[in-house]
Amino acid sequence: MENKGSFYITTPIYYPSDKLHIGHTYCTVATDAFARYKRLCGYDVMFLTGTDEHGQKIETKAREAGITPKEFVDNIVEGSRGVKDLWKLMNISNDRFIRTTDDYHVAAVQRIFKKMYDNGDIYKGKYVGKYCTPCESFWTETQLVDGKCPDCGREVVDAEEEAYFFRLSKYADRVQDLLENTDFLEPRSRVNEMVNNFIKPGLEDLCVSRTSFTWGIPVDFDPGHVVYVWVDALTNYITALGYENDRYDEYKKYWPGVNIVGKEIVRFHSIIWPAMLMSLGEPLPKKVFGHGWLLLDGGKMSKSKGNVVDPYILAEMFGVDALRFFLLRTFPFGSDGNFSNELLIQTINTDLANDLGNLVSRTTAMVEKYFGGALPEGCGATGMEKKMAAAAAEPSIVVFAAPDAPALEYDMELVALAAGLRNIYEMAMDQYVPHKALEEVFKVIQRANKYIDENAPWALAKDMDANGPRLAHVLYNLLEATRICGILLTPFMPESMDKLFTQIGACEACRTWDSAAVWGSRSETSPVTKGDSLFPRIDLDKALEELDAAQEAARKAGLPDIELEPPVEAPVDFDTFCKSDFRVVKVKACEAVKKSEKLLKFTLDDGTGTDRQILSGIHKWYEPEDLIGKTLVAIVNLPPRKMMGQESNGMLLSAVHTEKGEEKLNLIILDDAIPAGAKLC
Ligand code: ME8
Repeated sequence: MENKGSFYITTPIYYPSDKLHIGHTYCTVATDAFARYKRLCGYDVMFLTGTDEHGQKIETKAREAGITPKEFVDNIVEGSRGVKDLWKLMNISNDRFIRTTDDYHVAAVQRIFKKMYDNGDIYKGKYVGKYCTPCESFWTETQLVDGKCPDCGREVVDAEEEAYFFRLSKYADRVQDLLENTDFLEPRSRVNEMVNNFIKPGLEDLCVSRTSFTWGIPVDFDPGHVVYVWVDALTNYITALGYENDRYDEYKKYWPGVNIVGKEIVRFHSIIWPAMLMSLGEPLPKKVFGHGWLLLDGGKMSKSKGNVVDPYILAEMFGVDALRFFLLRTFPFGSDGNFSNELLIQTINTDLANDLGNLVSRTTAMVEKYFGGALPEGCGATGMEKKMAAAAAEPSIVVFAAPDAPALEYDMELVALAAGLRNIYEMAMDQYVPHKALEEVFKVIQRANKYIDENAPWALAKDMDANGPRLAHVLYNLLEATRICGILLTPFMPESMDKLFTQIGACEACRTWDSAAVWGSRSETSPVTKGDSLFPRIDLDKALEELDAAQEAARKAGLPDIELEPPVEAPVDFDTFCKSDFRVVKVKACEAVKKSEKLLKFTLDDGTGTDRQILSGIHKWYEPEDLIGKTLVAIVNLPPRKMMGQESNGMLLSAVHTEKGEEKLNLIILDDAIPAGAKLC
C-alpha cells in the first residue's frame, strides 16, 4: 500500500488526580478511531496520549492521602486499573504515552521556558488576581462570572505573588487572525466563543510561574518558582516527539499534528498554545478539535463532582468494542450528549445485535446451510456490477441504477451504495465527525438486511436446480457488502471486525482500505463459518439491575474504610464557645415518636429537678429501651425547637463518621457515677 505520509494526533493529557471515567474514555476512544482510520488509509501515524501530573491539586490530594505526589500519580497511572490499564483494556493503539514527570519532558520544559525568557516573551512581574484551585487557573476580576470561576463556577480566592508572565497580549492579533481566517479550530462554532469572550475583551499577559506550592517543574534559573502547569502540559505535544530533548528524534517528522480536546480546554489550546508556538517560532498545530461533553442527568460528569461512570464496569459487562462503538455512534462528536445506561444497551441491541449481528449470522448461516460453507465459482460480481461499483466509488460521479428487472435493481442499489460508502465515510472521518461516518455504514447494513428480505433466499433454496446460481450471487453480494462495512468499522471495533472477517471468509488482502472501494474483491469460493454471535442481545431490565449492583459495589469498594467529617470547622471565638452549656443528663424515659422513622423522644434528668424533653433523630442506630438509665451529654441552652409537633429543648451529643459509605453514629455515653447536671467544660 502506498505510504501517504505522516500523521500525528493527540488526546489531552489527563490529570491523574483520580481514576479516569467514561468522559476521558470517550475522548481517547475517538482519538484512537481517528488514528486507526489514518493507519488504515496508509498514513504513518503517531498517536500520543499521557498524563498531566504536576500542580497544586495533585499536591493537595497526595498530602491528604499521606504519600508523596509522585507516589500518588504513579499509583493512578501505573497501578492496577489505573490509566495505562484502562487504555489497554479499551484497546487503545497509542504509540507513545507521556508523563509530565518524565525526565526528558521536565528538562525540555525548562529549556522552552528559558527560550521564551531569553527572547523577551517571558518577564518577571507581580500577580494580583483571583485563583481557582480546582482548575489551576488565574483569572482577572472581569473574567469572573458572578464572582466565580468562569470555567467551573466554583469559588475563587485572592492571590498575589511575584511571578513570571508570558506576553500573550503581543500575540492577540495573530491568534485572532488564525481563529477567524483558517480552519485551525473546529467545530467552527467555538471560534466566536473564543474571540468574543477572551480575545476581544483584551488578552492580558499570562502568569506562567507559581511560588505558592512546589509540585511542578522548577524554573531552573530562578529557584522557588515552578512553571505554570498549563505551560508544562501544553508543551507535551512537542516534547513527546523530541523537541528540546534527545530522548526522541521525531519532531521534524510528525509535527505539526492534530490536538483533540474537550470543549472546556479549547481556550488553552486555541489561544495560549498557538501563542507559545509563535513565540518559539515553531509551526502551529494543524487543527484543534474541541469535542463536546458527556453529561449525566444534564450536568457534566466530573471527578470533583463525584458523579462519574466507570468505564471498567461497562466494558466488562458489555464488551470493549460495544462500548467503543456506542460512544462514537451515539453522540455527535462536537456537541454535548446525555449518557445513560439504557441508551447504551439500546444502541447495542439495535445496531450491533439486530442490524449488524443479524446480517452476519443470517448470511453465514445460509452459506453453510445451502452451500456447505463455500459459495461456488462464478457467483461473484457481474461485469455490470463492477462498472456500477467503479462509478459509485468515483467521488464526483452520481450513479443512477435503472435496470429493468427488480432483482437486478436490488443488486445495483446495494452495489452502488456499498461501493460508494468509502468516499462518504472518508469525508466524515476527515472532518472529525465519526457519528456521521457510522451513520453511513449503518445505512448500508440496513440496506443489506432489506436485500435479504427482498430476495427471500429461503424461497430460492426450495429449487436449487433452477435458483442455485441466483441464490449464490445474492449471498455473495451480502458477503461483499458486509466485508466493506467491516473494513470501515475496524477503527471503531478492531477485535470484533477481525472475528467478522474470519466468519465471512475475507482474506488479508480484502480487508484493506483500497479493497473497501473495489466491489468483488472477495474471492468467490473462500470458506465461510457461522461462528459465535458477534454481539449477543442484551436483556435490558436484567442488565440494568446488574449494572446498578456492580456500580454500587464498586462505589463502596472505592470508598475509604473510615471517613471523618471535614477536618476542622471554621474557628469560633472562645467567648462564643463558652456560652454553650453542656450538661450531664440521665435518661428517665425514651420512646419512638409516632409516624417518624428517625425520632426518639427522651425524658431527661438534667439535675434541675424538672424533667427536660429532647427529641433526637437517632432511631436508625438505637432502640429506645436500650437507652433508659444511660448517662449522656446534652447541650441545654439551645432555643426550643418543634419537631413532629413536639418540643425539643436541647440536643444530645454524639460522634459521627462514615464507614464504607455508611453513616455511623455513637452517643456520648458517660460513666453512671457522674451526677445529672454536672457541667462539661
Ligand atoms: O483538563 N465528557 O485534564 P482532565 C467528555 N490535564 N469528555 C470529558 C469529560 C466529559 N464529561 N470529562 C473529561 C485536563 N473529558 C488537563 C489537560 S492537555 C495539555 C491538559 C475529557 O483530566 C475531555 O477530553 O481534566 C477533557 O478535555 C479532558 O478529558 C480533561 O481531562
